[in-house]
Amino acid sequence: MRLIFHLITYCSVVVTAYSHHWQAPGPNDSRAPCPMLNTLANHGYIPHNGLNVSKEQFLAAFDEAIHVDPNAIASVVDLGLTLSTTGNPNTLNLQDLAKHGEEIPQKLAYMTIRPAIEHDASLSRLDAALGDNLHFNPRVWAETSSKFTNSIISVQDAAAAHRYRIAQNRIENPGLSFGQKEAGFSYLETAIYMSVFGNATGINVQRRWVKTFFEHERLPWEQGWVKATIPIVREHVDNLIAQLVADDNANNEM
Ligand code: HEM
Repeated sequence: MRLIFHLITYCSVVVTAYSHHWQAPGPNDSRAPCPMLNTLANHGYIPHNGLNVSKEQFLAAFDEAIHVDPNAIASVVDLGLTLSTTGNPNTLNLQDLAKHGEEIPQKLAYMTIRPAIEHDASLSRLDAALGDNLHFNPRVWAETSSKFTNSIISVQDAAAAHRYRIAQNRIENPGLSFGQKEAGFSYLETAIYMSVFGNATGINVQRRWVKTFFEHERLPWEQGWVKATIPIVREHVDNLIAQLVADDNANNEM
């Protein structure tokens, strides 16, 4: 019985790897400052060219590829859609998400405000004021990942990496803009990668999986990662955020 179970799991991993094999982006493909959205495009869970991606396509991809419950992330997708340049409010091009700023005044719809998600002190990207805030930056990532000293990344390690990057960034960028909104997004980003690579709860997150994800924007199936066995819901993410904040408080930071 156990053998049959393992055989079925193995077959489904092989079929998934085959139907969603990784393909590097081409020169005309649109990519985001978000390593997960790029990963989903590289595996074809959303259109590989990263163009005109709809809310439904995003939510289906989160569920299928990484088992993130649509309700946990729909509000971020909605916020992303307000930055769309496609002319269709239900779709965006991945690069639209590189818009940076406290607030970007909306030219349409009664001049309401649409806050950008992209912020300073990213884990793997340069600040917009310092250069390319869209693509993976090996120097920035080396700084962040220097705190991953064990083969398993604990929530405390993830918190330390997040803190270190912000501290370094304060030195590098005198014009750093990192208020409550930016802090909120950055906690969310760390919490969500820990939940995706730590079976919803952030445990047993293998450093090599996280490196493959950030450095190659690829799901680390070949290294033994499988998506969470239970749907990742908002409660999991909030719980991890609370642990990150507690660790920062214990270290008198932020
Ligand atoms: C569940 C799925 C998601 C995961 C696991 C995820 C993961 C991440 C991570 C780890 C980062 C930090 C990158 C860094 O600091 O270098 C990030 C950044 C970002 N994500 Fe996502 N993300 C997800 C969904 C989304 C969605 C739905 C959107 C919007 C439609 C989005 C937009 C962004 C943007 C704009 C950034 C750049 C923030 C910055 O300046 O660092 N992400 N994401």
